[in-house]
Amino acid sequence: MTLQGKHIVLGITGSIAAYKAASLARLLIKSGAEVQIVITPAGKEFITPVTLSALTGKPVVSEFFTANDGTWHSHVDLGQWADLMLIAPATASTLGKMANGVADNMLITTYMSMKAPVMIAPAMDLDMFAHPATTRNIEILRSYGNIIIEPASGELASHLIGKGRMEEPENIFKAVEDFFAKQQTLAKKKILITAGPSYEKIDPVRFIGNYSSGKMGFSLAEECANRGAEVILVTGPVSLTISHPNITRIDVESAEEMYNASLKAFPSMDAAILCAAVADFRPAQKYDEKVKRGEDLLNISLVPNKDIAATLGKMKKASQLLIGFALETNDEENNALKKIVKKNLDYIVLNSLNDKGAGFKYDTNKIAIISKSGIRKDFELKSKKEVASDIIDETLSGFPILV
Ligand code: CTP
Repeated sequence: MTLQGKHIVLGITGSIAAYKAASLARLLIKSGAEVQIVITPAGKEFITPVTLSALTGKPVVSEFFTANDGTWHSHVDLGQWADLMLIAPATASTLGKMANGVADNMLITTYMSMKAPVMIAPAMDLDMFAHPATTRNIEILRSYGNIIIEPASGELASHLIGKGRMEEPENIFKAVEDFFAKQQTLAKKKILITAGPSYEKIDPVRFIGNYSSGKMGFSLAEECANRGAEVILVTGPVSLTISHPNITRIDVESAEEMYNASLKAFPSMDAAILCAAVADFRPAQKYDEKVKRGEDLLNISLVPNKDIAATLGKMKKASQLLIGFALETNDEENNALKKIVKKNLDYIVLNSLNDKGAGFKYDTNKIAIISKSGIRKDFELKSKKEVASDIIDETLSGFPILV
């Protein structure tokens, strides 16, 4: 894979790791990319613009205006020009500004005008990296669809040992290469994803729900979109945000609403990944007014909800793929295999509540994927983003690659 013809804005901020950005720029250029550097005022304290412009063959952009001739540097033009913005190193301060839209320098205005995907390689001391503010800012940036290249663990500039060191230029370069290699593998494909829980109303203030956070489904949506697919994300009530030009989000509340939205979308889709934790039952009777506490027992009768997966399984054409999830507490594999048959799935992703760190609420997941021919593949405990990538590699790689 070469980066021939790719336009990359390389953002550099005020961290000691800024010196490594020179090697990174060199790797990108050698691979055929055009690199425009945007550096913060603090970044220039760590590496000189002369070194950087000599490597890239382009003047480094740092201020809104060039002081001597008043030339205005357009962050909007850079936002249109780039195929990728890569910020390496990104300090805690820059992460905070990006997460909160504090556009007080050229790098942040460029970031906020960016039409292309953004990759961020944080670099800071271990305590700063572990601070809840940094964790929250990274979480927010992920929700914007930005890709975080996790810092490595090891000796830091402060001589302390821990996590916070910017990933090595070779590994960042590899992540960029992988990103471009994958970017078009799902181009022109349409994928339906269901995510989150369903809420089944009892009365105007109460519902039956479950602990699903929606994180797995949102990670899948983002990963499919990053690979060029057009995604319809039908989600139950979650507190997640997502913004990607390829993702159309449809918010629903009940299983019935999710069923209707999914059935409407499915005929024009190439695949559906059904990640939602749909309630199996809903109250038979919906109260229009809040139910008052009395002395007697309150019985709520439940009626079964329609099965979205099984219905799509019946509608499925030969060219369409259907991928379901199963969360089991016992006899996992057998139950999962039964679901493949019952719902006419091509694959089932099995996650078990018995695995520590897997399932609802966690940012990590441990899965096995079973195909309809019964072949099982087990994966390690990983972040939900990495799990999403594994699921797509394993189940959607049969699609022809349209580069
Ligand atoms: N599913 C669905 N519609 C439903 C219930 C489940 O689309 N009404 C999908 C889920 O999104 C998941 C798969 O079916 O992809 C399996 O969900 P699960 O709740 O494990 O299966 P159930 O059919 O509800 O089986 P059981 O409750 O007996 O385990």
